[in-house]
Amino acid sequence: ATAWTLPDHPKLPKGKTVAVVVLDGWGEANPDEYNCIHVAQTPVMDSLKNGAPEKWRLVKAHGTAVGLPSDDDMGNSEVGHNALGAGRIFAQGAKLVDSALASGKIYDGEGFNYIKESFENGTLHLIGLLSDGGVHSRLDQVQLLLKGASERGAKRIRVHILTDGRDVLDGSSIGFVETLENDLSQLREKGIDAQIASGGGRMYVTMDRYENDWGVVKRGWDAQVLGEAPHKFKSAVEAVKTLRAVPDTNDQYLPPFVIVDESGNAVGPIVDGDAVVTFNFRADRMVMLAKALEYADFDKFDRVRVPKIRYAGMLQYDGELLLPKRYLVSPPEIERTSGEYLVKNGVRTFACRQVTHSFYMFIIFVLIHEHRSETVKFGHVTFFWNGNRSGYFDESKEEYVEVPSDSGITFNVKPKMKAVEIAEKARDAILSGKFDQVRVNLPNGDMVGHTGDIEATVVACKAADEAVKIILDAVEQVGGIYLVTADHGNAEDMVKRNKAGKPLLDKSGAIQILTSHTLQPVPVAIGGPGLHPGVKFRSDIETPGLANVAATVMNLHGFEAPADYEPTLIEVADN
Ligand code: 3PG
Ligand code: CO
Repeated sequence: ATAWTLPDHPKLPKGKTVAVVVLDGWGEANPDEYNCIHVAQTPVMDSLKNGAPEKWRLVKAHGTAVGLPSDDDMGNSEVGHNALGAGRIFAQGAKLVDSALASGKIYDGEGFNYIKESFENGTLHLIGLLSDGGVHSRLDQVQLLLKGASERGAKRIRVHILTDGRDVLDGSSIGFVETLENDLSQLREKGIDAQIASGGGRMYVTMDRYENDWGVVKRGWDAQVLGEAPHKFKSAVEAVKTLRAVPDTNDQYLPPFVIVDESGNAVGPIVDGDAVVTFNFRADRMVMLAKALEYADFDKFDRVRVPKIRYAGMLQYDGELLLPKRYLVSPPEIERTSGEYLVKNGVRTFACRQVTHSFYMFIIFVLIHEHRSETVKFGHVTFFWNGNRSGYFDESKEEYVEVPSDSGITFNVKPKMKAVEIAEKARDAILSGKFDQVRVNLPNGDMVGHTGDIEATVVACKAADEAVKIILDAVEQVGGIYLVTADHGNAEDMVKRNKAGKPLLDKSGAIQILTSHTLQPVPVAIGGPGLHPGVKFRSDIETPGLANVAATVMNLHGFEAPADYEPTLIEVADN
């Protein structure tokens, strides 16, 4: 049994208000014109960086430091927040799927054996993000799965693709489709009836998150399940080439299409008796489709026809909802997170989350007062923070509030987003004196960075910095403590570079815009009037990562972290 009681920190007091600010997509990189954080006016973050050297440092936010297969893997919000909240490094979905495929264990599991029952008389459908981004899925895993399934009896296979351009360069989707087409034609040579059946851009088709816009999932459903879409093509290569040629289209937002045969019939609707695998390992943007595929009771959109299928996720996407019931690879078991410890130590939590079109912001207020706050709804990033769990640990001690926001726009149009509003809520929470921890995620750098719009990203970074100021001013007023960090890089580098760090140009001489995250480290800054004067960053932890933050925050609340947590970043001198 877990001993939940955290020991008192020998030197640091309890009862200080701690603001934990996570800047989304805010890494540290060389200052140049493609570093939007550098270009933007960010006086607050600059002052933290240029202040006391023992109160600002960099930590790793990518690769093995956050449980990804290799240090070539960029960080992302899922693994970043997992590490921040859990205080330990867990092998993440990408890595677990790699091992299961390499050992072949994926084919011995319950999930594969379940879908295999459809191979004799039905079609195997694979649905997911087609790229080598490694954030939600990876093409090489799909290739191995295709090979493995066909060797184990799948005779008819249909792939439903979602084009990326967000975790990889815009325009790269055509190459991934060609690679997949090539694999499928090799399968056809072996007598397997394998084809791409439908597609669409990830941000417009299927991969919505946080129940923000079910219309996105419906567009996917219509194409994948019903075989209906506004665009029909003979091949996916033709589809992507044609649709991309329309002005202002990009891989992220391609409209839905279906592949049709000579007589114009969709080649791969999902019908009774078929098997379906959603091959993304990352949960957030697959949960909604998983619900549509699995739930008998479903009222989010009219599914028209609900085929009786055998469905498995690459992973189980939600450990609390047990969704989906079947999966090919067991997800990481992220337990005993810092949030759960705080709750079990009597810490009361209030979370406020702002939901916007395909992104989230959230604020969590941690209380140790005795009064009860009203419960409204869970926040999704509490899901990542709490180890991919959608529920409360103890509803009587936690509250997560949801606030709606703009929808139907891409964030280069409104790069300031709701940063000020979020910061003001945080400020009010801090000033109210009711809370011990106020935790905020400011998504501007990430969400606008993903659009590839450099000018807008500069505005976004400035807005995030202004939001930090509002929060830090409030911390100052109440004599509190702040810890400012980020979940991964994005806005600090907006151009694809060669090994020497030089921007890469395309054939027309234009720079190649980097819409994705980066491999850069992120800052951690601590301070505030309530910080014990002896606190400074340790110099004996050479390459800390995001997982070291949880123990640090527990210390700032006056607790020692559990022994198996990654070590705290701070030490306390006696004077
Ligand atoms: C997305 O899902 O928007 C991107 O693939 C990753 O971005 P995030 O990790 O910042 O959510
Ligand atoms: Co992102």
